[in-house]
Amino acid sequence: FSKTTCVKKLAESPSLTSIPANYTFTKDPQEDEVVSEDPEEPIPVIDFSLLAYGTPDQRSTVIQELGRACKDWGFFMVINHGVPERLIERVIEGIRGFFDLTEEEKREFEGKNVLDTIRCGTSFNTSFDKVFFWRDFLKVIIQHPHHLHFPDKPAGFSEVWLEYCQRIRGVVRELLKGISESLGLEASYILKAMNMESAGLQSFVANLYPPCPQPDLAMGLPPHSDHGLLTVVTQNGIGGLQLQRNGKWVNVHALPNSLLVNTSDQLEYKSNVHRAVVNEKATRISLAIVNGPPLDAIVGPSPELVKKESSRPAYIEIKYKDYLGLHQTNKLYGKASLDRIRISND
Ligand code: SIN
Ligand code: FE2
Repeated sequence: FSKTTCVKKLAESPSLTSIPANYTFTKDPQEDEVVSEDPEEPIPVIDFSLLAYGTPDQRSTVIQELGRACKDWGFFMVINHGVPERLIERVIEGIRGFFDLTEEEKREFEGKNVLDTIRCGTSFNTSFDKVFFWRDFLKVIIQHPHHLHFPDKPAGFSEVWLEYCQRIRGVVRELLKGISESLGLEASYILKAMNMESAGLQSFVANLYPPCPQPDLAMGLPPHSDHGLLTVVTQNGIGGLQLQRNGKWVNVHALPNSLLVNTSDQLEYKSNVHRAVVNEKATRISLAIVNGPPLDAIVGPSPELVKKESSRPAYIEIKYKDYLGLHQTNKLYGKASLDRIRISND
Protein backbone atom coordinates (compact mmCIF):
# COMPACT_ATOMS: atom_id res chain seq x y z
CA PHE A 1 0.00 0.00 0.00
CA SER A 2 2.94 2.30 0.42
CA LYS A 3 3.82 2.56 -3.27
CA THR A 4 0.33 2.35 -4.69
CA THR A 5 -2.93 3.56 -3.21
CA CYS A 6 -5.37 0.81 -2.42
CA VAL A 7 -8.59 0.90 -4.43
CA LYS A 8 -10.63 1.10 -1.25
CA LYS A 9 -9.18 4.52 -0.55
CA LEU A 10 -9.50 5.56 -4.18
CA ALA A 11 -13.15 4.53 -4.28
CA GLU A 12 -13.91 6.42 -1.09
CA SER A 13 -12.87 9.72 -2.62
CA PRO A 14 -16.10 11.71 -3.08
CA SER A 15 -14.83 13.35 -6.25
CA LEU A 16 -14.19 10.09 -8.09
CA THR A 17 -16.49 9.88 -11.09
CA SER A 18 -14.23 8.00 -13.48
CA ILE A 19 -11.41 5.55 -13.01
CA PRO A 20 -7.77 6.61 -13.37
CA ALA A 21 -6.32 5.72 -16.79
CA ASN A 22 -4.06 2.97 -15.43
CA TYR A 23 -7.12 0.99 -14.28
CA THR A 24 -8.59 0.72 -17.79
CA PHE A 25 -8.53 -2.93 -18.68
CA THR A 26 -8.36 -3.72 -22.38
CA LYS A 27 -10.22 -6.90 -23.07
CA ASP A 28 -8.62 -9.33 -25.46
CA PRO A 29 -10.33 -8.73 -28.83
CA GLN A 30 -9.92 -12.47 -29.57
CA GLU A 31 -12.06 -13.23 -26.61
CA ASP A 32 -15.76 -13.60 -26.73
CA GLU A 33 -17.31 -10.98 -24.56
CA VAL A 34 -20.74 -12.58 -24.46
CA VAL A 35 -21.99 -12.99 -20.94
CA SER A 36 -24.49 -15.75 -20.81
CA GLU A 37 -26.88 -16.71 -18.05
CA ASP A 38 -27.06 -20.22 -19.53
CA PRO A 39 -30.41 -21.08 -17.98
CA GLU A 40 -30.68 -24.30 -19.97
CA GLU A 41 -27.50 -25.64 -18.58
CA PRO A 42 -27.20 -24.95 -14.89
CA ILE A 43 -23.84 -24.92 -13.12
CA PRO A 44 -23.32 -28.37 -11.55
CA VAL A 45 -24.33 -28.75 -7.90
CA ILE A 46 -22.70 -31.38 -5.70
CA ASP A 47 -24.48 -32.59 -2.57
CA PHE A 48 -21.58 -33.12 -0.22
CA SER A 49 -23.62 -35.02 2.37
CA LEU A 50 -24.29 -37.80 -0.15
CA LEU A 51 -20.60 -38.03 -1.01
CA ALA A 52 -19.49 -38.23 2.61
CA TYR A 53 -22.39 -40.06 4.28
CA GLY A 54 -24.62 -41.43 1.51
CA THR A 55 -25.34 -45.06 0.65
CA PRO A 56 -22.86 -46.68 -1.77
CA ASP A 57 -25.35 -46.01 -4.59
CA GLN A 58 -25.75 -42.35 -3.68
CA ARG A 59 -22.01 -41.99 -3.37
CA SER A 60 -21.31 -43.47 -6.77
CA THR A 61 -23.93 -41.20 -8.38
CA VAL A 62 -22.28 -38.14 -6.82
CA ILE A 63 -18.85 -39.34 -7.95
CA GLN A 64 -20.12 -39.51 -11.52
CA GLU A 65 -21.57 -36.02 -11.20
CA LEU A 66 -18.30 -34.79 -9.76
CA GLY A 67 -16.32 -36.27 -12.66
CA ARG A 68 -18.65 -34.69 -15.19
CA ALA A 69 -18.49 -31.31 -13.43
CA CYS A 70 -14.68 -31.38 -13.41
CA LYS A 71 -14.49 -32.39 -17.05
CA ASP A 72 -17.21 -30.20 -18.54
CA TRP A 73 -16.98 -27.13 -16.32
CA GLY A 74 -13.98 -27.29 -14.02
CA PHE A 75 -16.42 -25.78 -11.58
CA PHE A 76 -19.25 -26.79 -9.25
CA MET A 77 -21.23 -25.53 -6.27
CA VAL A 78 -21.17 -27.61 -3.11
CA ILE A 79 -24.26 -27.75 -0.89
CA ASN A 80 -24.81 -29.52 2.44
CA HIS A 81 -21.09 -29.25 3.16
CA GLY A 82 -21.51 -28.93 6.93
CA VAL A 83 -19.47 -25.71 7.29
CA PRO A 84 -21.69 -23.54 9.53
CA GLU A 85 -23.20 -20.49 7.86
CA ARG A 86 -22.45 -18.45 10.95
CA LEU A 87 -18.77 -19.35 10.69
CA ILE A 88 -18.65 -18.15 7.08
CA GLU A 89 -20.33 -14.87 8.09
CA ARG A 90 -17.76 -14.34 10.83
CA VAL A 91 -14.92 -15.06 8.41
CA ILE A 92 -16.19 -12.38 6.02
CA GLU A 93 -16.77 -9.97 8.92
CA GLY A 94 -13.11 -10.37 9.91
CA ILE A 95 -11.97 -9.71 6.35
CA ARG A 96 -14.06 -6.55 6.17
CA GLY A 97 -12.45 -5.52 9.47
CA PHE A 98 -8.99 -6.16 8.07
CA PHE A 99 -9.54 -3.93 5.05
CA ASP A 100 -10.99 -1.27 7.37
CA LEU A 101 -7.70 -1.04 9.28
CA THR A 102 -5.76 2.17 8.73
CA GLU A 103 -3.11 2.25 6.00
CA GLU A 104 -0.53 2.35 8.74
CA GLU A 105 -1.88 -0.73 10.50
CA LYS A 106 -1.99 -2.63 7.21
CA ARG A 107 1.59 -1.71 6.40
CA GLU A 108 2.76 -4.22 9.01
CA PHE A 109 1.32 -7.00 6.79
CA GLU A 110 2.51 -5.72 3.44
CA GLY A 111 5.23 -8.33 2.88
CA LYS A 112 7.97 -8.04 0.30
CA ASN A 113 8.34 -11.39 -1.38
CA VAL A 114 5.55 -13.26 -3.18
CA LEU A 115 6.16 -16.27 -0.96
CA ASP A 116 5.93 -14.30 2.29
CA THR A 117 3.32 -16.04 4.41
CA ILE A 118 1.31 -12.88 5.08
CA ARG A 119 0.98 -10.25 2.40
CA CYS A 120 -1.57 -7.57 1.63
CA GLY A 121 -1.68 -5.20 -1.28
CA THR A 122 -3.64 -4.04 -4.28
CA SER A 123 -4.09 -5.25 -7.88
CA PHE A 124 -2.09 -8.52 -8.39
CA ASN A 125 1.58 -7.66 -8.42
CA THR A 126 2.11 -3.89 -8.65
CA SER A 127 5.80 -4.32 -9.40
CA PHE A 128 4.91 -5.46 -12.90
CA ASP A 129 1.16 -4.95 -13.48
CA LYS A 130 0.81 -2.48 -16.33
CA VAL A 131 -2.89 -2.15 -15.81
CA PHE A 132 -4.10 -2.25 -12.22
CA PHE A 133 -7.04 -4.36 -11.14
CA TRP A 134 -9.89 -2.94 -9.07
CA ARG A 135 -9.03 -5.09 -6.12
CA ASP A 136 -7.27 -5.06 -2.77
CA PHE A 137 -6.13 -8.34 -1.25
CA LEU A 138 -4.82 -10.13 1.78
CA LYS A 139 -2.98 -13.41 1.16
CA VAL A 140 -1.98 -15.80 3.91
CA ILE A 141 -0.10 -18.99 3.14
CA ILE A 142 -0.70 -21.66 5.73
CA GLN A 143 1.12 -24.96 5.80
CA HIS A 144 -0.48 -27.84 7.60
CA PRO A 145 0.26 -29.05 10.15
CA HIS A 146 2.84 -26.55 11.45
CA HIS A 147 2.60 -23.03 10.06
CA LEU A 148 -0.86 -21.76 10.78
CA HIS A 149 -0.44 -18.02 11.39
CA PHE A 150 -2.89 -15.30 10.45
CA PRO A 151 -2.67 -11.55 11.02
CA ASP A 152 -3.54 -10.69 14.63
CA LYS A 153 -5.68 -7.78 13.44
CA PRO A 154 -8.56 -7.25 13.69
CA ALA A 155 -8.40 -8.88 17.11
CA GLY A 156 -10.10 -12.22 17.62
CA PHE A 157 -10.37 -13.34 13.99
CA SER A 158 -7.28 -15.45 13.50
CA GLU A 159 -8.99 -18.36 15.31
CA VAL A 160 -12.10 -17.89 13.17
CA TRP A 161 -10.06 -17.92 9.94
CA LEU A 162 -8.11 -20.97 11.02
CA GLU A 163 -11.24 -22.86 12.01
CA TYR A 164 -12.70 -22.09 8.59
CA CYS A 165 -9.56 -23.26 6.77
CA GLN A 166 -9.56 -26.52 8.73
CA ARG A 167 -13.19 -27.11 7.81
CA ILE A 168 -12.55 -26.36 4.14
CA ARG A 169 -9.57 -28.68 4.20
CA GLY A 170 -11.83 -31.50 5.38
CA VAL A 171 -14.34 -30.83 2.60
CA VAL A 172 -11.58 -30.62 -0.03
CA ARG A 173 -10.03 -33.92 1.03
CA GLU A 174 -13.38 -35.65 0.69
CA LEU A 175 -13.89 -34.06 -2.75
CA LEU A 176 -10.41 -35.15 -3.86
CA LYS A 177 -11.24 -38.72 -2.86
CA GLY A 178 -14.38 -38.57 -4.98
CA ILE A 179 -12.43 -37.00 -7.87
CA SER A 180 -9.79 -39.76 -7.69
CA GLU A 181 -12.53 -42.35 -7.94
CA SER A 182 -14.14 -40.50 -10.84
CA LEU A 183 -10.83 -40.99 -12.69
CA GLY A 184 -10.94 -44.72 -12.02
CA LEU A 185 -8.22 -44.47 -9.37
CA GLU A 186 -8.44 -45.52 -5.74
CA ALA A 187 -9.96 -42.91 -3.42
CA SER A 188 -6.70 -42.01 -1.71
CA TYR A 189 -4.76 -41.74 -4.99
CA ILE A 190 -4.51 -37.95 -5.31
CA LEU A 191 -3.88 -37.39 -1.60
CA LYS A 192 -1.08 -39.96 -1.66
CA ALA A 193 0.45 -38.88 -4.96
CA MET A 194 0.50 -35.25 -3.81
CA ASN A 195 1.95 -36.09 -0.43
CA MET A 196 -1.16 -34.61 1.16
CA GLU A 197 -2.08 -37.30 3.63
CA SER A 198 -0.91 -35.36 6.64
CA ALA A 199 0.42 -32.11 5.14
CA GLY A 200 -0.67 -29.56 2.59
CA LEU A 201 -0.76 -25.90 1.75
CA GLN A 202 -3.68 -23.53 1.81
CA SER A 203 -3.51 -20.06 0.44
CA PHE A 204 -6.14 -17.80 2.00
CA VAL A 205 -6.84 -15.07 -0.54
CA ALA A 206 -9.26 -12.39 0.62
CA ASN A 207 -10.41 -9.92 -2.02
CA LEU A 208 -12.07 -6.55 -1.65
CA TYR A 209 -13.71 -5.01 -4.71
CA PRO A 210 -15.06 -1.55 -3.84
CA PRO A 211 -17.84 0.05 -5.92
CA CYS A 212 -16.38 1.23 -9.19
CA PRO A 213 -17.64 4.30 -11.09
CA GLN A 214 -16.96 2.64 -14.46
CA PRO A 215 -17.35 -1.09 -13.88
CA ASP A 216 -17.29 -1.96 -17.60
CA LEU A 217 -13.85 -0.43 -18.04
CA ALA A 218 -12.19 -1.93 -14.97
CA MET A 219 -11.48 -5.52 -13.97
CA GLY A 220 -11.44 -7.06 -10.49
CA LEU A 221 -9.30 -10.01 -11.51
CA PRO A 222 -8.47 -10.83 -15.14
CA PRO A 223 -9.16 -14.24 -16.71
CA HIS A 224 -6.87 -16.77 -15.06
CA SER A 225 -6.55 -20.28 -13.71
CA ASP A 226 -5.41 -20.97 -10.15
CA HIS A 227 -2.44 -22.92 -8.88
CA GLY A 228 -3.21 -25.85 -6.60
CA LEU A 229 -5.83 -28.58 -6.88
CA LEU A 230 -9.16 -27.09 -5.86
CA THR A 231 -10.03 -23.51 -4.93
CA VAL A 232 -13.03 -22.88 -2.69
CA VAL A 233 -14.69 -19.46 -2.91
CA THR A 234 -17.24 -17.78 -0.66
CA GLN A 235 -18.45 -14.20 -0.87
CA ASN A 236 -20.50 -11.58 0.97
CA GLY A 237 -23.66 -12.19 -1.04
CA ILE A 238 -22.53 -9.97 -3.93
CA GLY A 239 -21.84 -11.67 -7.25
CA GLY A 240 -18.98 -10.97 -9.66
CA LEU A 241 -17.35 -14.31 -10.39
CA GLN A 242 -17.60 -15.42 -14.02
CA LEU A 243 -16.54 -18.70 -15.65
CA GLN A 244 -15.24 -19.17 -19.14
CA ARG A 245 -17.20 -21.85 -20.91
CA ASN A 246 -17.63 -22.56 -24.63
CA GLY A 247 -16.39 -19.12 -25.59
CA LYS A 248 -18.74 -17.30 -23.24
CA TRP A 249 -18.61 -15.88 -19.77
CA VAL A 250 -21.11 -17.40 -17.37
CA ASN A 251 -22.18 -15.47 -14.27
CA VAL A 252 -22.03 -17.52 -11.10
CA HIS A 253 -25.19 -17.05 -9.05
CA ALA A 254 -24.21 -18.74 -5.83
CA LEU A 255 -26.87 -20.88 -4.15
CA PRO A 256 -27.43 -19.73 -0.56
CA ASN A 257 -24.77 -21.10 1.78
CA SER A 258 -22.94 -22.93 -1.01
CA LEU A 259 -19.20 -23.24 -1.57
CA LEU A 260 -17.98 -22.39 -5.07
CA VAL A 261 -15.27 -24.78 -6.20
CA ASN A 262 -13.01 -24.58 -9.20
CA THR A 263 -10.42 -27.04 -10.43
CA SER A 264 -6.88 -25.74 -10.62
CA ASP A 265 -3.59 -26.28 -12.46
CA GLN A 266 -2.22 -29.19 -10.40
CA LEU A 267 -5.27 -31.41 -10.86
CA GLU A 268 -5.60 -34.10 -13.54
CA TYR A 269 -8.73 -32.52 -14.92
CA LYS A 270 -8.21 -29.26 -16.80
CA SER A 271 -8.18 -26.12 -14.70
CA ASN A 272 -10.95 -23.62 -15.00
CA VAL A 273 -10.49 -20.07 -16.30
CA HIS A 274 -12.44 -17.48 -14.39
CA ARG A 275 -12.40 -13.75 -13.65
CA ALA A 276 -13.98 -11.31 -11.22
CA VAL A 277 -15.91 -8.33 -12.53
CA VAL A 278 -16.82 -5.29 -10.47
CA ASN A 279 -19.98 -3.25 -10.04
CA GLU A 280 -21.01 0.32 -9.42
CA LYS A 281 -23.03 -0.04 -6.24
CA ALA A 282 -21.81 -2.53 -3.70
CA THR A 283 -18.52 -3.54 -2.16
CA ARG A 284 -17.88 -7.16 -2.91
CA ILE A 285 -15.77 -9.30 -0.61
CA SER A 286 -14.72 -12.77 -1.66
CA LEU A 287 -12.48 -15.34 -0.07
CA ALA A 288 -10.70 -17.95 -2.15
CA ILE A 289 -9.01 -20.81 -0.34
CA VAL A 290 -6.50 -22.41 -2.69
CA ASN A 291 -5.81 -25.99 -1.65
CA GLY A 292 -2.51 -27.45 -2.76
CA PRO A 293 0.07 -30.04 -1.82
CA PRO A 294 2.93 -29.28 0.57
CA LEU A 295 5.51 -26.86 -0.87
CA ASP A 296 8.13 -29.56 -1.39
CA ALA A 297 5.81 -31.93 -3.30
CA ILE A 298 6.93 -32.72 -6.83
CA VAL A 299 3.90 -32.47 -9.09
CA GLY A 300 3.78 -34.11 -12.49
CA PRO A 301 1.42 -36.11 -14.68
CA SER A 302 0.09 -39.30 -13.07
CA PRO A 303 2.00 -42.26 -14.57
CA GLU A 304 -1.12 -44.42 -14.12
CA LEU A 305 -3.30 -42.09 -16.17
CA VAL A 306 -0.68 -41.49 -18.85
CA LYS A 307 -0.41 -45.26 -19.24
CA LYS A 308 -4.15 -45.80 -19.16
CA GLU A 309 -4.72 -43.29 -21.90
CA SER A 310 -1.65 -44.41 -23.87
CA SER A 311 -0.57 -40.81 -24.15
CA ARG A 312 2.57 -38.87 -23.46
CA PRO A 313 2.95 -36.55 -20.46
CA ALA A 314 1.87 -33.03 -21.37
CA TYR A 315 3.66 -31.22 -18.52
CA ILE A 316 7.02 -31.37 -16.83
CA GLU A 317 7.38 -32.35 -13.20
CA ILE A 318 7.86 -29.34 -10.99
CA LYS A 319 8.15 -28.69 -7.28
CA TYR A 320 4.93 -27.05 -6.09
CA LYS A 321 6.89 -24.28 -4.39
CA ASP A 322 8.50 -23.37 -7.72
CA TYR A 323 5.16 -23.41 -9.48
CA LEU A 324 3.65 -21.17 -6.82
CA GLY A 325 6.53 -18.72 -7.24
CA LEU A 326 6.06 -18.83 -11.01
CA HIS A 327 2.31 -18.23 -10.70
CA GLN A 328 2.80 -15.22 -8.43
CA THR A 329 5.46 -13.55 -10.56
CA ASN A 330 4.05 -14.36 -13.99
CA LYS A 331 1.46 -12.23 -15.69
CA LEU A 332 -1.96 -13.25 -14.37
CA TYR A 333 -3.72 -14.10 -17.58
CA GLY A 334 -5.42 -17.25 -18.87
CA LYS A 335 -3.19 -20.27 -18.38
CA ALA A 336 0.03 -18.31 -18.72
CA SER A 337 1.76 -20.18 -15.86
CA LEU A 338 0.60 -23.63 -16.93
CA ASP A 339 1.80 -22.91 -20.47
CA ARG A 340 5.29 -22.36 -19.09
CA ILE A 341 5.54 -25.98 -17.94
CA ARG A 342 3.86 -27.57 -20.95
CA ILE A 343 5.91 -30.10 -22.93
CA SER A 344 5.83 -29.39 -26.60
CA ASN A 345 5.21 -32.67 -28.39
CA ASP A 346 6.16 -31.61 -31.85
C1 SIN B 1 -10.41 -15.64 -7.67
O1 SIN B 1 -9.96 -16.19 -6.67
O2 SIN B 1 -10.01 -15.93 -8.78
C2 SIN B 1 -11.47 -14.60 -7.55
C3 SIN B 1 -12.59 -15.08 -6.79
C4 SIN B 1 -13.67 -14.06 -6.73
O3 SIN B 1 -13.44 -12.90 -6.41
O4 SIN B 1 -14.80 -14.48 -6.95
FE1 FE2 C 1 -8.77 -17.56 -9.14
